[in-house]
Amino acid sequence: MKYDIEISRRRTFAIISHPDAGKTTLTEKLLLFGGAIQVAGAVKSNKIKKHATSDFMEIERQRGISVATSVMSFEYADTLINLLDTPGHKDFAEDTYRTLTAVDSVILVIDSVNGVEEQTRKLMEVCRMRDTPVIVFVNKLDRDGKYPFDLMDEIEKELNISLHPLSWPINMGKEFKGVYNLFNKSLNLFTANQKATEDNTVPISSLTEKLLDEKVGERDANQLREDVELLEGVYGDLDVEAYRAALVAPVFFGSAVNNFGVKELLDTFIHIAPKPLGRATDKRFVEPNEDKFSGFIFKIHANLDPRHRDRIAFLRVCSGRFERNKYFYHTRLDKDIRFSNPYSFLAREKDVIDVAFPGDVVGLFDTGNFKIGDTLTEGEVLQFTGIPTFSPELFKELVNKDPLKTKQMEKGIRQLTDEGVAQLFTQHGGNRKIIGCVGELQFEVIQYRLLQEYGASCAFVPLSFYKACWITGDKKKIDDFVRFKQSNIMEDKDGNLVYLAQSEWFLNTERQNNPDIEFHFTSEFKTAQAG
Ligand code: G4P
Repeated sequence: MKYDIEISRRRTFAIISHPDAGKTTLTEKLLLFGGAIQVAGAVKSNKIKKHATSDFMEIERQRGISVATSVMSFEYADTLINLLDTPGHKDFAEDTYRTLTAVDSVILVIDSVNGVEEQTRKLMEVCRMRDTPVIVFVNKLDRDGKYPFDLMDEIEKELNISLHPLSWPINMGKEFKGVYNLFNKSLNLFTANQKATEDNTVPISSLTEKLLDEKVGERDANQLREDVELLEGVYGDLDVEAYRAALVAPVFFGSAVNNFGVKELLDTFIHIAPKPLGRATDKRFVEPNEDKFSGFIFKIHANLDPRHRDRIAFLRVCSGRFERNKYFYHTRLDKDIRFSNPYSFLAREKDVIDVAFPGDVVGLFDTGNFKIGDTLTEGEVLQFTGIPTFSPELFKELVNKDPLKTKQMEKGIRQLTDEGVAQLFTQHGGNRKIIGCVGELQFEVIQYRLLQEYGASCAFVPLSFYKACWITGDKKKIDDFVRFKQSNIMEDKDGNLVYLAQSEWFLNTERQNNPDIEFHFTSEFKTAQAG
């Protein structure tokens, strides 16, 4: 096929973690290896500091950083790596979930001291929904963390995933001496603050070698021999296909801040991680090496300058070849659009690009044509699926404080929710508007941006709903249910019916009373069903 060479050399992935596990640090070290940045400290943390939840400058700063680092592309060992950034703050988790629809694999960072944390669990659930292959990087081995076998147990149980260690640590904390690479049978000795170019690798053809005792001391050498014997007995060789099928997750140990274990991770990653994969649509499965172009929008960023309403829409190329100035078909709007200034994210040359291939992410200047999930093709009518909306966790009624600005408010809330900042539900047969979010911070962002960018001032009235459930089933039964439950029935932006349940008890009761109706926690029903 025409584009096989381009496809084979690309890897598109995201690093995910619970905040503070070391995602930013690891990202930075990978960029250093890729030559995309020259000095440590160049990647700004995209975390919103805990105390700054109502500091709007912080939100603006965050938006600035997240535009700049949304996608980081760089070359390493003849491989073109597209690293997609995900927000650090849990209130923006939905943004992370959407970004995960655009990657082919992930690296999950776990803090060896804290083990599996709340966000780690949620992120893994999303990976599992999509069968995304995962490599685990256990970070902060320079600190006294959990005993590696216990940690492996915890990760396997808590995340319900089979692990396969590819490296194994020799002690930890102050006693940390390095890792033994089970994949290529070499010993990597630890020195703090190791430079990216420094190589402290010692090839060990057999663990019985005396060299091992010389390097790490007799006691630790014997412990390593014991550990490795056990590990090799249990795990054997890595089944790469099982990893690509998301059945097994390889594990590396290291210390990102000390640049330790990062190179092994990267070298193995480019070797085993899947190349750009095909994607499902409502009509058929699209393979990356098809001649014709297709892609979808997974993220939209508003312009930071409020005087300009244009936005950047992030397109993941799924098949064929994207070209500048060529007309592509916007399947939802049924119209052809071309892009004269598509934007690339190659770290050295953030600039206009002429072509892009499957796995690449292109930034498109948008004047309001796109919403998340939109599909572009060379004329074929299809829509990429698997970009679901999840039930929000917080619900508030949107109240317009300035009736003279109703139009601005309507437009603003429509555009902000197209961007995916929050979800908008409108009362079925009415005009009441309810905003659903994952975290409080999103409400603050909406209020602030409606005022700053649209001149509309709003207030929010908290509502005590438990979940939004998309409902499907027999039409007559649905009609009856809608009539009966009128005040709890909303429509999402696409006009789908949504039932807002007051509590888990209410939801269960409705389920029992309405066996012919299905209640779903996501807008796409095949991928995950409620409870
Ligand atoms: P995040 O993006 O996942 O939220 O985490 P981030 O990389 O910002 O790292 C969180 C903290 O953990 C940072 O410290 C960072 O320096 C530290 N860290 C990262 N990797 C390691 C490691 O291998 N060992 C140890 N001991 N610490 C590590 P901070 O104090 O919050 O920030 P900073 O002032 O050091 O930047």
